Amino acid sequence: MTNAPESSSTSLPVVGPPAHLDSGVSSSSVLLELRGITKSFGAVQALKHVDLEVPAGQVTALIGDNGAGKSTLIKAIAGIYAPTSGQILWNGEEVHVHSPREAEQLGIATVYQDLALCDNLDVVQNMFLGHEETRYHQLDEISMELAAKKVLADLSVTTVKSVRQKVASLSGGQRQSIAVAKAVMRDSKLVILDEPTAALGVSQTAQVLGLIHTLASRGIAVLLISHNLADVFVVADRVAVMYLGNLVSSGPISDYDTASAVDWITTGASTRGASTMAPAS
Ligand SMILES: Nc1ncnc2c1ncn2[C@@H]1O[C@H](COP(=O)(O)OP(=O)(O)OP(=O)(O)O)[C@@H](O)[C@H]1O
Ligand SMILES: [Mg+2]
Repeated sequence: MTNAPESSSTSLPVVGPPAHLDSGVSSSSVLLELRGITKSFGAVQALKHVDLEVPAGQVTALIGDNGAGKSTLIKAIAGIYAPTSGQILWNGEEVHVHSPREAEQLGIATVYQDLALCDNLDVVQNMFLGHEETRYHQLDEISMELAAKKVLADLSVTTVKSVRQKVASLSGGQRQSIAVAKAVMRDSKLVILDEPTAALGVSQTAQVLGLIHTLASRGIAVLLISHNLADVFVVADRVAVMYLGNLVSSGPISDYDTASAVDWITTGASTRGASTMAPAS
């Protein structure tokens, strides 16, 4: 197991936090903060008073078992579900995100597992879908193509041979890379990735993890949902664990090892020394 070191540029040293609290994100680096977010679907309480800080320039892994509430949480951030109660703060100010469009305007980009790419369109067409550039009332193909190439080059996505090839002809890892590139094109400040490596082989997984690392190193906050703890320990700076709608533990990746992460995921508790948060009742 390798524990990724916490980025020293964005977090302050923590001196002895109380055991039940998240062991610290520098308040200046916190881009997104959730306070007491709850979400009910009828009798089902999918989120129970979730507090979470997501810092800029770091990868925060959101982990938890099936049904723990991870997707519901990111949908609340991404403007798909309105929380039943609680606050969302963006750069320290409370925001109300009523739609995916409003989330996008704040700089929140979400890459869902199905990617929502169109197989029959090429890379450029996919990256600009819904945001096409025009010149003299015509599509400005040249400028879109150059912009698409530039974003891919910036993100060191080198395996896509032509931006004019149809997405249907790309591998899973290449598609994931295009979906991420599309998400970061519009000046995103927070990129949420739902299981980005679930369907990928070893080298494609490495490619996507490299891309996630690149995003964080550019100052983007990354919120990564993953069931793959190996990926989490390779790429995450911080971990947040959900259990039955509660956020039961969060802190720097160095506070966890595979055994304690598995404890948290499967029982909502651990005696192995990771930082803890008392479950909300
Ligand atoms: N639209 C909905 N209507 C009713 N219940 C829902 C709805 N969406 C989610 N839930 C319930 O909320 C709980 C959390 O579901 P959620 O999809 O957030 O879990 P998850 O952590 O993403 O799980 P997985 O790892 O399986 O994707 C589950 O009990 C689920 O049945
Ligand atoms: Mg889910």
